[in-house]
Amino acid sequence: MQISEFVAHTIVALSQNIDIQARLKNNLADNQLLQRILDESLRIYPLFGITNRIADQDYQMRNGQVIPEGMNIVFDFVACHAEGIINPNVFDPDRWIQPKQPDNCYMPFGAGPRMCPAKKFAYNITATLVTDMIKNYWFISSIEHDRPLTGGGLVYFFSDNQGIKQRIKRRLMLPMISFKEALVQRCYSRKVIKNCEIVNKTDFLTKLVKTEAQDMPSL
Ligand code: HEM
Repeated sequence: MQISEFVAHTIVALSQNIDIQARLKNNLADNQLLQRILDESLRIYPLFGITNRIADQDYQMRNGQVIPEGMNIVFDFVACHAEGIINPNVFDPDRWIQPKQPDNCYMPFGAGPRMCPAKKFAYNITATLVTDMIKNYWFISSIEHDRPLTGGGLVYFFSDNQGIKQRIKRRLMLPMISFKEALVQRCYSRKVIKNCEIVNKTDFLTKLVKTEAQDMPSL
């Protein structure tokens, strides 16, 4: 599940950054470039939005503030990964050539004793899948790329084949994308409107409030 999301974000990012996709295609044996692409993918689109830790003792921060024992500390991965970064929303794998981020701000797999045990595994599988996909196809996408992939993960791909059919297909690609996306988005919005109507008809919210009120223990 996490790995498919990691692959999806990386492919969508590459499909919207054709120069980087072309560079990777031409340098598939360059593991460092691939690693930078994967790191940048997890920086902007970390799979975990937040995590938390409970302070097991008082902690004195460098700025003089104290985190008292028992406090629930919530980490926001997206905010952490943007710390000290110039243009944090720009997908730029080359920023990892000389990373300028402050220590410990990049932690897509968590940190400390409870960090993800599958880090290497996730990188290896994702690297293999992405390399194989990029080796065989070109990817293009016009979705609004955000962390929860609210716009879906629509990515179009075509092979390197230079045949006449492929060339015609490529020419038609963009009009086809806008047409298909318009249809898909229309379908989604109709579904959302329909779901709202159903919820409204069943008076779901009133029922929910009433049920919750009945279930509340009397004080
Ligand atoms: C790109 C893929 C993945 C990412 C970004 C990721 C990220 C994370 C993060 C951030 C945590 C720590 C959460 C915290 O500190 O509260 C975590 C924990 C964990 N992950 Fe992953 N994970 C990935 C894939 C996987 C896979 C494939 C597996 C299993 C096969 C896995 C197994 C675990 C387990 C068991 C923990 C809990 C460790 C503990 O609490 O001691 N993860 N993961």
